[in-house]
Amino acid sequence: MRHLLDTKELTREEAISILDTADYMAEVGRQEVKKLPVLQGRTVVNLFFEDSTRTRLSFETAEKRLGADIINFAAKGSSVSKGESLKDTAQTLAAINADAFVIRHSASGAPQRLAEAGWTNIPVLNAGDGTHAHPTQALLDAMTLRQFQHQLSGIPTQGSALEGMRVAIVGDILHSRVARSNLWLLHTLGAEVIFIAPPTLLPHDIDHWPVQVYYNFDQALAHGVDAVMLLRIQKERMNAAFFPSVEEYARLWGLTPERFKALERSGEQTAVLHPGPMNRGLEISSLAADSSQSWVLRQVNNGVSVRMAVLYMLMTGQDGSELYSSNNTQIHP
Ligand code: CP
Repeated sequence: MRHLLDTKELTREEAISILDTADYMAEVGRQEVKKLPVLQGRTVVNLFFEDSTRTRLSFETAEKRLGADIINFAAKGSSVSKGESLKDTAQTLAAINADAFVIRHSASGAPQRLAEAGWTNIPVLNAGDGTHAHPTQALLDAMTLRQFQHQLSGIPTQGSALEGMRVAIVGDILHSRVARSNLWLLHTLGAEVIFIAPPTLLPHDIDHWPVQVYYNFDQALAHGVDAVMLLRIQKERMNAAFFPSVEEYARLWGLTPERFKALERSGEQTAVLHPGPMNRGLEISSLAADSSQSWVLRQVNNGVSVRMAVLYMLMTGQDGSELYSSNNTQIHP
């Protein structure tokens, strides 16, 4: 693994290695001194061409916990506004002797271009590109689902996949890089994925994806799901009307208080996930978001561990097992 651009390219073994390493990194996060300074003397450049709260802060926290030096680059206020290209921006930052790029960009494919155009030869970590991919989000979601499975049935998280889990991803699939990255990763890990969405918010080539589609939220829930992942309605990527009104969307496609109570009454334990930021009252009600079945904040917490894991693995070339192997379970100070 040289870069992390998309979950589609991860093997099952690679994905499990990342998740196991992230479990180890979570232990580091539970220590009083939350440091594993394995990247001391290395420099990570965080290139954010699009807004972010969770991903940006989480990468930055992960880099600090690993002891790396950090250069934060935000397109707003930079020479990008004077027309500087991605190539010139990247090469300028690489000339400062950067050791890795983390990049978020509104253009699908920008991280791939950065990784493969020959402008630099350092690892590139995709922090979300357009509607294409958000691999660290999918990995942190998989880590969260492993923890949910462990809580429910005691299956150890280390080494395990998500075989047999049924995960519903609901809402604006069309514009969602989170849905795409989750689909490929969950499929690789053996979970069954269903999409629940209005036809207008589904991609045109969905017939070729390993997913079952439902157009009715209640019917899909009646078939039983282990986890429901609500997606944000991405108004900033919508240049047309994709649904008649916000009220109708919330009623048909949102996890409303009524739908959430029905889920609770079913007696099944169902994890509620959302990548954030949430539009409360639209795709998710506060009752669901703030309930004991909500794993939303755990997702945020796991984001730091997953990003520590991928930074460590890509920047050191190790597969992580040297950290958590049975004869070396000690957390390093
Ligand atoms: N989930 C996610 O990518 O959130 P941010 O846009 O705040 O980073």
